[in-house]
Amino acid sequence: MEWDVWFQDKTFTTDWSSSNYAHWARNCEKFRQRAVSVLEIGSWEGRSAIFFLEFLPKCRISCIDTFAAGPGYAYLGDAVVNSIEARFDSNLSPYRDRVRKLTSRSLPALDQLAQENATFDLIYIDGSHARDDVLMDSVQAWRLLAPNGICIWDDYTWGLPDMPSAERPQHAIDAFLDSHADEFQILHTSAQIVVEKRPGGRANRGNRLTFPRTAANLMRFLTRRPMRH
Ligand SMILES: C[S@@+](CC[C@H](N)C(=O)[O-])C[C@H]1O[C@@H](n2cnc3c(N)ncnc32)[C@H](O)[C@@H]1O
Repeated sequence: MEWDVWFQDKTFTTDWSSSNYAHWARNCEKFRQRAVSVLEIGSWEGRSAIFFLEFLPKCRISCIDTFAAGPGYAYLGDAVVNSIEARFDSNLSPYRDRVRKLTSRSLPALDQLAQENATFDLIYIDGSHARDDVLMDSVQAWRLLAPNGICIWDDYTWGLPDMPSAERPQHAIDAFLDSHADEFQILHTSAQIVVEKRPGGRANRGNRLTFPRTAANLMRFLTRRPMRH
């Protein structure tokens, strides 16, 4: 794959992104040669940010992260968790002129960007996975997304089937998309959801993520295949 080389001389302890590169490339192709602005909530060691910086060579990216991980990352060990930001800095150093790092919880950082009247063409939401955090990130981020911009949510199916609703993103993403159904069209559904924001919030009721609750759709959902209306 052309993109493997982008990561060869960097340091990573995890890979939560490479299974998405192919659909990111498809869905972001329209931005390829444009000087677009990208916003990422949740950067970790910088792997997803590097994909966007390389795939979109004229883009600039703002990366929001506490770099504090949280209890859900303790299984990786102190050595990994205590050095996230150092790896992010080192991995992103070749791109430093195109990167703005906001070391912060997402909500204050998103509010700061709103105060600056910032807008973004591409937003990747991959920060906290708690339902209410994802919902708040989605609401704040959506206001920053330019018309015809693309928003990607990670981990739509993460935590299924055992984790409580409050600890996983799915119901937040569903609730956000249900309540904004006139404002986007869906480009991709899998373990990630990708939508394109419509200019002016035109009605498009076909976008709702309320799929028929059939046994076949349940199986498609659990095996991470697109569900059918
Ligand atoms: C799954 S990792 C991001 C992975 C990265 N996008 C990638 O693909 O390589 C989630 C990140 O979100 C950050 N995070 C969690 N809650 C956050 C919050 N409320 N505000 C900002 N960052 C947060 C964590 O520190 C962690 O680095």
